[in-house]
Amino acid sequence: MNKAEAKKEIKKLRDEINHHNYKYYVKNNPAISDFEFDQLLKKLESLEEKYPELVTLDSPTQRVGGEPLDGFTTVEHKVAMLSLANTYTYDELREFDERVKKNVGDAEYVVEPKIDGAGVALLYENGIFVRGATRGDGIQGDDITSNLKTIRSIPLRLIGVKVKNVEVRGEVYFPSKEFERYNKEQVKKGEAVFANPRNAAAGSLRQLDSRIVASRPLNIFIYFISFSDRDYVTHEKAIAVLKDVGFRVNPLTKKVKDIEGAIKYCQKLEEKRETLDYEIDGAVIKVNLFSKQKQLGETSKHPRWAISYKFAAKQATTRLNDIAIQVGRTGTLTPVAILEPVQVAGVTVSRATLHNFDELRRKDVRIGDTVLIERSGDVIPQVVKAIIEKRSGSEKSKRIPKKCPICGSEIVHTEGEVAVRCKNRMCPARLKWRIKYFASRDAMDIDHLGGSTVDKLIEKGFVDSIADLYSLTLEDILTLEGFKEKSAQNLLDSIEKSKSQSLSRLIYGLGIRHVGKYAAQLLAAKYPSLDLLSKADVEELKDIYGLGEKTVEAVCTFFATEENRELIDKLRAVGVKLKEDVKTEYLLLKGKKFVFTGGLKTLTRPKASDLIKEKGGIITSSVGEDLDYIVVGEKPGSKYGKAKKLGVTLLNEEEFIELVEE
Ligand code: IVH
Repeated sequence: MNKAEAKKEIKKLRDEINHHNYKYYVKNNPAISDFEFDQLLKKLESLEEKYPELVTLDSPTQRVGGEPLDGFTTVEHKVAMLSLANTYTYDELREFDERVKKNVGDAEYVVEPKIDGAGVALLYENGIFVRGATRGDGIQGDDITSNLKTIRSIPLRLIGVKVKNVEVRGEVYFPSKEFERYNKEQVKKGEAVFANPRNAAAGSLRQLDSRIVASRPLNIFIYFISFSDRDYVTHEKAIAVLKDVGFRVNPLTKKVKDIEGAIKYCQKLEEKRETLDYEIDGAVIKVNLFSKQKQLGETSKHPRWAISYKFAAKQATTRLNDIAIQVGRTGTLTPVAILEPVQVAGVTVSRATLHNFDELRRKDVRIGDTVLIERSGDVIPQVVKAIIEKRSGSEKSKRIPKKCPICGSEIVHTEGEVAVRCKNRMCPARLKWRIKYFASRDAMDIDHLGGSTVDKLIEKGFVDSIADLYSLTLEDILTLEGFKEKSAQNLLDSIEKSKSQSLSRLIYGLGIRHVGKYAAQLLAAKYPSLDLLSKADVEELKDIYGLGEKTVEAVCTFFATEENRELIDKLRAVGVKLKEDVKTEYLLLKGKKFVFTGGLKTLTRPKASDLIKEKGGIITSSVGEDLDYIVVGEKPGSKYGKAKKLGVTLLNEEEFIELVEE
């Protein structure tokens, strides 16, 4: 295929992919299988690889960006992003209608769900998505284009020629079910959860690494045109155009004749609230005719032609019976409210998070208090505040404990840090988290090793470290409640299977602070074995593009800690694979034998040996006919003369480095 043909084919593929993407993510009505879709994308990728000059910003291959950013650039919105005035009662909505009537006469309205997510502005030039920004202070926001590109329902190129230059507004959200799943996974790993889907959406969009954003199930509804190169008569029509050109608009958007119609529909939306797969916190009522919108204008904060009606919060009051303390994977102590069970929006709630001791102090919530709790689609409800008027005087504050409630060790509270930690790395609570984390799906993926099994293993004293998992016997497991011959064998098999997991999973599973999935992959890509990684110094690690300073520090600290070195030795001893599988047939020095003699100037011997081994070479100590290379340093010994006689290839230090770095 020549370049002209490739160009044509690329265009065809992009159109086809965009069309199927639209069918899948916007219309929810896929026309081809995921496999067929991937095939199209792969075809496009390989053509673009061949002709990189043909890659354009709007190509579907450009959804997931490359390297993380250092920070976001501030951008000015084309039109200020206003917020909406809130109302809480239907009478307030009637008052809004009165004000509208006074200024522009009777008005038709459009009512939409008010999506509880993060507002964004998307700019299109010549039909192509060129910039996306957060709301920020309404005048300026952060440029989050590469993050937004990962959201598949955002068109990278608009359909047709109706609209070319336009800025639209919409709400990015984290679907409720996915949010619960995400938080559950985080809890399993002993990692931070998002307080609610809104924070999850906003927090994801603030990630500097768009690859992380791509792994989150974000979605968007578009509800407003803030700037356009053409005119629209009504909001209803504008929404229809948005839909035509490829945007995802909310299907519950509805035109009503008057304010009573709007109120009825608000009621309907509130009833529907629990059945939706995204969070809504109210309804938005907008004057339909643009000429009337224009006449009504806006204040410095809000438009006068729209208003939000906020639903009653999903809140309830109940008694706080106790404040329990949980110890997490890194030893962090978290206060948890134990509540008198209460119904909140159809769900019985008996525990709520208090986040940390700073927050506990700020809220001054006490044992015995009547508290207001709130649930916003999240798995972990929150304590909003104590109802002070209901205090009897017998309520008790919970102080930061002096000792770990699990192991009794000393507690550390570093100045300036929110977290309060148990100092004991061997605390059973932490061990439990570490094992769960090690076994989790993204790490060693050990099936049948659930949280309660881990608890029992620790209780029985079968495991004191991750490595002990690999010494478990069938008899051990059979002593645990609930295990029979078959299930015990299944667990043993899964543990055995995990021995040959990839190096990046192992690195991730070790639970090094700040080392997530991506950092682990970066580390494994540079260091093909745990031994090599453990010897890397700060400078070397800093060279890895994409690794932050904190991560580098944490990696060094981890491998400098005696206990962790012991753990790695133990893992090695029980047969866990500590290296990346390399296809040895491609290795440059496969089977070549090396001998060193004399001192090296720039390398240490172990480092030089590693370099040889990495490339498949073998280090020996004796000089014989089958020796391939002898590396000759300063003040060489007798091996030098012997090798020379035998005609072995001699390498000085520079030549050696050149060879292994090839
Ligand atoms: S219209 C000038 N419609 O709520 C009018 N906003 O408190 C711009 N929101 O900043 C807003 N759903 O982030 C509009 N259907 C909807 C909405 C919506 C959610 C958010 C938006 C806005 C905030 C206002």
